[in-house]
Amino acid sequence: MAKIAQKCADIEVVVVDINGERIGAWQTDELPVYEPGLLEVVREARGRNLFFSTDVDAAIESSDIIFISVNTPTKGYGIGAGKAADLRYVEKCARQIARVAKSDKIIVEKSTLPVRTAESIKRILDASGSHRRFQVLSNPEFLAEGTAMKDLENPDRVLIGGETDGEGTAAVKTLVDIYARWVPRENIITTNLWSSELSKLTANAFLAQRISSINAMSALCEATGADVDEVGYAIGRDSRIGPKFLKASVGFGGSCFQKDILNLVYLCSHFGLSEVADYWESVVQMNDYQKRRFSRRIVSTLFNTVSGKKIAIFGFAFKKDTNDTRESAAIHVCRDLLEEGAELAIFDPQVSHEQILRDLGLEAASAEVTFHQEPYEAANGAHAIALLTEWDSLREDQTDYARIFASMEKPAFFFDGRNLVDLDVLRAIGFEAHGIGKPAAR
Ligand code: UDX
Repeated sequence: MAKIAQKCADIEVVVVDINGERIGAWQTDELPVYEPGLLEVVREARGRNLFFSTDVDAAIESSDIIFISVNTPTKGYGIGAGKAADLRYVEKCARQIARVAKSDKIIVEKSTLPVRTAESIKRILDASGSHRRFQVLSNPEFLAEGTAMKDLENPDRVLIGGETDGEGTAAVKTLVDIYARWVPRENIITTNLWSSELSKLTANAFLAQRISSINAMSALCEATGADVDEVGYAIGRDSRIGPKFLKASVGFGGSCFQKDILNLVYLCSHFGLSEVADYWESVVQMNDYQKRRFSRRIVSTLFNTVSGKKIAIFGFAFKKDTNDTRESAAIHVCRDLLEEGAELAIFDPQVSHEQILRDLGLEAASAEVTFHQEPYEAANGAHAIALLTEWDSLREDQTDYARIFASMEKPAFFFDGRNLVDLDVLRAIGFEAHGIGKPAAR
């Protein structure tokens, strides 16, 4: 919304939320999310044509277009628990709009939703009386965290789905015209509603599948002495495969991949397509295997026990340049290590201690889990380092690993869950260094 406000000074954008604290934070320079470049854009438009408010009803009344951008977490209860999307927040929005709206509106699904959700939204809206007309559009968001501002400025494509009758087409055009202010028209794709909804789930499933595929190969590389980065590079040079999203890791995280795949799995099962459901579910299973494999490897390498040993955790966010930890592989690895009795000294340049404690299900820092402002302090006296987020500052040219090595127990182990550092440099310092899908030291 900040981007739309920045690009379209004549359009008034009001962001509403029932959470007053968050809305308050959006009005300051301490935004509730860390995203490079976002503050500058918000500052440019805030107070001009970008406003933040908790008065949801007023915003509904005064708007022509309403974007529903609420959370659609994996359902934790009842039918479809653990897989289906929990649509209660979307439904609540639709009901509130139906109750409050006095004029015609275009409703845009921005949240990632199961296929045919637009139909339910439309039914709720239409059931509330016939004096206003609602058009429902699907406009999934493809930005990735950490690069959100770049992705919004210059998207590979914008996707807009709508009904194909006269009114539907007009509504689609209204939204196309907004994006066309800065996105080349040929990069704006219009489809029917269901194609748009399904394309979002499919895009995330394909992206996650690439990571699970390269991660599966990383296990085979470790067993055979091949180097997964070399394999990734070699196959990525095939223009049909392409070079992106082939980086082996400790496992993908983030708020979307797992949730959307499980959602897809649930949809397939619902339509009786059990083979298709199983196919996609294996992408998540491979990711779970990869996370578990990493923590097991730490334990087995440290002479089969980490009990009472200090392990420094470098990075907790699910990827660099974000403070988001949702589904971060770090959560799983840390939990596994704590279960094995390890003491964790955690460093992340952006994630708050409170967030990490919540993620690990702990009340407070203790002897088992401590927090550190810099990597040197975290690694001091540690038996091993587990690098779990690819922060640039943790590269060997920005962090003094010789200094770190000197302060650690010996043998000093290094497990790079992101293939971020040059293992040979660390080995030359004296570390016993392990990567993902990397040959052991010769
Ligand atoms: C993703 C999609 O990229 C985006 O289009 C969609 O709108 C939301 O979901 P995001 O979750 O922000 O975006 O981050 P992304 O860059 O896709 O990374 C997801 C996870 O995969 C991270 O944990 C990342 O570290 C991991 N990853 C990514 C790899 O392990 N290897 C890779 O090659 C790429």
